[in-house]
Order: sequence, then structure tokens, then C-alpha cells
Amino acid sequence: MATKTAQGLEILLTRDQIAERVCQMGEQITADLAGEKLVMVGVLKGAAPFLSDLARSITVDATFDFVAVKSYAKGSRTSSGAVKLIKDLDEPIEGKNVLIVEDILDTGLTLTYLRKIFLQHHPKSLRIAALLDKPSRRVEQIEADYVGFSIPNLFVIGYGMDYSERYRNLPDICLMPPDTP
Ligand code: IMP
Ligand code: MG
Repeated sequence: MATKTAQGLEILLTRDQIAERVCQMGEQITADLAGEKLVMVGVLKGAAPFLSDLARSITVDATFDFVAVKSYAKGSRTSSGAVKLIKDLDEPIEGKNVLIVEDILDTGLTLTYLRKIFLQHHPKSLRIAALLDKPSRRVEQIEADYVGFSIPNLFVIGYGMDYSERYRNLPDICLMPPDTP
């Protein structure tokens, strides 16, 4: 198994490992929501590849919606704590089963903010699926209902995740070289 990409980036999770785990998550979500309808809400832009794969491994009747948030960055790798909604839901979620689909749960600020505003709309249920979890970075007390992989405090790129908007299209999840400015 290759540990580096053609560009020389170190691979943390291969496309095969991701595919296998996303399938398992989909099966779990399908079992938990048996007979129910689901609204999958992707957090743009990073969650797009994960939502796309996860949705195809879920067999319950599902629709998609998307939100976008901005967290005020001090540096490219850290956020200041302020989160703002820059694209709201297209459809009301009142009375619906909602699954927030996020690429990575880091400090927890983004998902704490989204959970709070979604709950104000009184969904029937609200769950969170995060492909990656960095529990050591948590600032807000929040856990996802479904986690793909728990990882140490490393900055990752690929499979939707970016560094200054680049690398989202890498098929594997790679480590950002630490010497990058
Ligand atoms: P939180 O609000 O700190 O939990 O941040 C979540 C968001 O920060 C994620 O949706 C990502 O957009 C971004 N993020 C956190 N860690 C990483 C990383 O290692 N690589 C790329 N983006 C990250
Ligand atoms: Mg994100």
C-alpha cells in the first residue's frame, strides 16, 4: 500500500479505508433510521465528497440540503471562535429527521453553532455524522453520533478538506506538510 501520493504527500487514510468506513457508517445510519425519512445537510464545502459517498451507502428515503459557514480565521490552520452562517437551509426542517454531514469535528465550534440554530427549527431528530474527529482539539462539549475515524491533532487535506482552498480533490486523506506557511 502506498504511503505517499504521486505529489509526495504522506497518506493518513487511503481511499479504500475511507470507502470501507463510509459504507459501515451508511449501514449504521440506515439501521438507526429504518422506515423514516432523512434530510442530509452537508456543510460546504469540505463535506461534499463525504456526503456524496455516504448518501449512496444509505438506503432510507433521503433528500439533500446544504449550509455554508464562515469561521473567522486568525491563521489558515486555526479559527478565532466566531462562526457565521453564510448560506442557510433551502427547505424547512421542522418535524424532519436531520443528519448534519461534516468533514471534520475539530474544536466543535462549527457544529455547536449549527446544532443550536437547527434545534430552533424543531426537527423531529438531529444527528451528526463527521468523517473525522480530533477530540484533543475540542473547545465546545460536542460529540458526533457517527464518526468515521478519530485522529490525533494533525492538519489533514484531501477528500474535501482544504488548505487555503487547495487539495480538496485528493482522493486520499493526506497530512499537510508541517513546514507549509
Ligand atoms: P471546528 O469548528 O473547529 O470544529 O472546525 C471544523 C472545521 O474546521 C472543519 O469543517 C474544517 O473545515 C476545518 N478543519 C479543522 N481541522 C482541519 C484539518 O485538519 N484540515 C482541514 N480543515 C480542517
Ligand atoms: Mg468544513
